[in-house]
Order: sequence, then structure tokens, then C-alpha cells
Amino acid sequence: MDEMLETKNIGLRGIKVADTRISDVDGEKGNLIYRGLNICDLVSNSTFEEVSFLLLSNRLPTAKELKTFQSELVSERKVPEAVYGFMRMMPKASHPMDVLQASIPILAVYDNQLHDESRDANLKKAARLIAKLPNIVAAWDRIRKGKEPVGPDPELIHAGNFLYMLSGSLPDPETTKDFDTCLILHAEHSFNASTFAGREVASTHAHLYASIVAALGALSGELHGGANSEVMKMLLEIGEVDRAKSWVFEKLRKGGKIMGMGHAVYHTEDPRATILRRIDDRLADRTRDRRWFELTKTIEMATKEEFRKLKGKEIYPNVDFYSASVYHMMGIPTDLFTPVFAISRISGWAAHIIEEKFAEAQPKPELYRPDADYVGTYCGPEACPYIPIEERS
Ligand SMILES: CC(C)(COP(=O)(O)OP(=O)(O)OC[C@H]1O[C@@H](n2cnc3c(N)ncnc32)[C@H](O)[C@@H]1OP(=O)(O)O)[C@@H](O)C(=O)NCCC(=O)NCCS
Repeated sequence: MDEMLETKNIGLRGIKVADTRISDVDGEKGNLIYRGLNICDLVSNSTFEEVSFLLLSNRLPTAKELKTFQSELVSERKVPEAVYGFMRMMPKASHPMDVLQASIPILAVYDNQLHDESRDANLKKAARLIAKLPNIVAAWDRIRKGKEPVGPDPELIHAGNFLYMLSGSLPDPETTKDFDTCLILHAEHSFNASTFAGREVASTHAHLYASIVAALGALSGELHGGANSEVMKMLLEIGEVDRAKSWVFEKLRKGGKIMGMGHAVYHTEDPRATILRRIDDRLADRTRDRRWFELTKTIEMATKEEFRKLKGKEIYPNVDFYSASVYHMMGIPTDLFTPVFAISRISGWAAHIIEEKFAEAQPKPELYRPDADYVGTYCGPEACPYIPIEERS
């Protein structure tokens, strides 16, 4: 019983709820591996499409398999007209995460394999979602601005095609490559809040689309995927490098949080932040505007310094910290940062949901059903007397 009490209200930190073969986060050494491969090797050698294949199929594809998978994604990029129709009816101020989440059931009802629960059908549905999510995010940004959606370009890779559908102009190869790296880095991160939400829903035998809706909801919060937009809001609020230190000190002294800093698992630098810092630096040179990079770096240094003084410990940037200025310099609107996280994490979510459905890392599928101690009103084992409405005061 005492042991049970100790595990409550700790956000399940350190509690192993399942086995997985998909990825491993080494929070002490700062390593992240997808299906046995280090993300540093993946960003140097692979594309998001190849990494998605890896996550879904447990191995890197052959050249022929990759070509087939890329063609499948390209052929699935279009979304049903009903998705655009729904968007045209939405208030323009609707948050892109809400629009994205609400679009998923529309994709579901147009999928003629919706109730086919074979593994192969689930892989096909996963590919459809990976292919279509960028289209939804880009289309909503255009529709809310009174513009027509831009159709996908089959000649472009996944990363470049998203940037093209968003802006309507072809992205340069360097930006495409950097955005592709961002997609790889955000694709998978073991049992984080959104993945767990998706797996939990999948454990009830709900279909893939319903599970993804749950994952999207969990991602939207500022303590998870919503943090990248919050980082950008902070950068815009601070505005100038020479204001950063005092802003950070004041925020921390008042007990506030510096978004994008700290992590539930990493006790050293998040390896994704290391790679994103380099991209940010490069982008600053390419855009000939080093302000956002320098501001982000100064906030990092100031947070570390003040955190040491206040708490006597270290704090490090997480994946959301440098991705904010990276996306900003790529011309992506701030409130699209979390949907952009989703268009990448969809691969990891789908891999996990399939692993859950088909018990690929455990003996058999199992419904998640945790327990709680009841600490509410109690009048004894027979429960409280029911008071009829006319006798209540
Ligand atoms: C991600 C996060 C929830 C991880 O939390 P955690 O590992 O459980 O760490 P805790 O919340 O236990 O934090 C330990 C201490 O550091 C503080 N802390 C953690 N991150 C902090 C931050 N970004 N700014 C200020 N203080 C922070 C906590 O307030 C806590 O202080 P306390 O011991 O006085 O209560 C937390 O670091 C955070 O809120 N970060 C900002 C949001 C963010 O970037 N989220 C994206 C995560 S990928």
C-alpha cells in the first residue's frame, strides 16, 4: 500500500508501463535511438520518409522499398474535398491544432479501410496519415488567410512539399534539408505524453485515426508539443538580446518557467537540441539575421546561470527550444509550430499504435486500465444516504 502511495501524483515518472522496440531515450548520456539507430546517424544519412519506413517496419528500407514507400506517400498526399469544406466553415481564429485534430475523423470516414484491422491495413492508414497531415496544416494556414490551398507537388520530397504548400513558392535546397532534419528529430520519442495517449486509446481496440486524435490532444499542451510556440512568444516578447538576461532572471525569481528548457527524461543536453542549435546558427547566417539565434542562445545561458544559483542544479534546452527560432526563420507562423511537430511525430505515433495493437513487444494485447485510490466523500461501505431533491438545502 505504501508503495502504491509513493507512485501517485508523480506523472508516472520512471514507471515502466510497457516494453517497446521502437526507440530508446538515454536521459543520462543524452542519446536517442530509433529502432537501434542513433538519430545523429539518421539525420546525416536519411530522409524523413526513410525514417518513417524504419519506425513502421523495424528496419531501414532497401533502395527499391524506399522508392515504393515514397511513391505511396506522394500518391496519398491529397485530402478529401470535405476537409477543405470543413475548414472554410471554421472561424478564422481557430487554432491550427484544433483544426488539425478535428480534421482527422474526416479522413477516417473517407478511408475505405477504416475498419480493416489487419496489420497491413494499419500500415496503409499510417502512410495515408503521414502523407496527408502536412496538406491539412498548410491548407488551414492559407484558408484562414483568405488564400486558396496549394496542391502538393509530386516532384518534391515530404519536407520540401510542406514548405511549398504553405508558402506557394519552392523552398531552397538548404532549407528543405534543414526542415527534413527537423522532421527526423521530432518523429519519435518513446513513451512521451502524446504517444502514451495514442497507445492507451489503441489498447481499447479503437482504430488508428481515433488513437491519433487522442495523441494530438496530448501534444497540444504547452508542457509537451505546445512548448515550441511558447518559446517563440517568449523570443518575440523579449525582442532584443540585451534584454534577455534580466527577463530570464525576473521570470525565474518569480517562480515562472522558461519554456523549452528542462526535460522529464534528459538530465543532460537533449541530443535533438544540439543538432537544432547548429541548424539555427546556419539559418541565422543564411537569412542574414542573427537576432533570433543570438537571443535564443543568450536565454539558454541566462537560464542555466540563474537555475544553478536558485536550485543548485543544471538545466538544459529540450527539442522545442531551438526549433522555435528555426521555424520562425523558415517563415512558419508561430501557432503552426505544434502542428508541424505533429506532422513529424505522426510516424512515431503510428508505429507505437501498431506495436500496441499487435502486441509486438509484449506477449499479448492488453487494455490499459490503471487504478486510483478514492479520496472523496465516504460514509462507510454502504455509501451515503441518497437525499431526494425536495429535501436538499
Ligand atoms: C518538461 C518539464 C515539465 C519537465 O519537468 P520535470 O523533469 O518533471 O522537472 P520538474 O518539473 O520536476 O522540475 C524540477 C524543478 O525544476 C523546475 N523547472 C523545470 N523546468 C523548468 C523551466 N523550464 N523553467 C523554470 N523552472 C523549471 C521545476 O519548477 C522544479 O522546481 P522545484 O523543484 O522547485 O519544484 C519542465 O522542465 C518544464 O515545464 N519545461 C518547460 C516546458 C517545456 O519546455 N516543455 C517541453 C518538454 S519537451
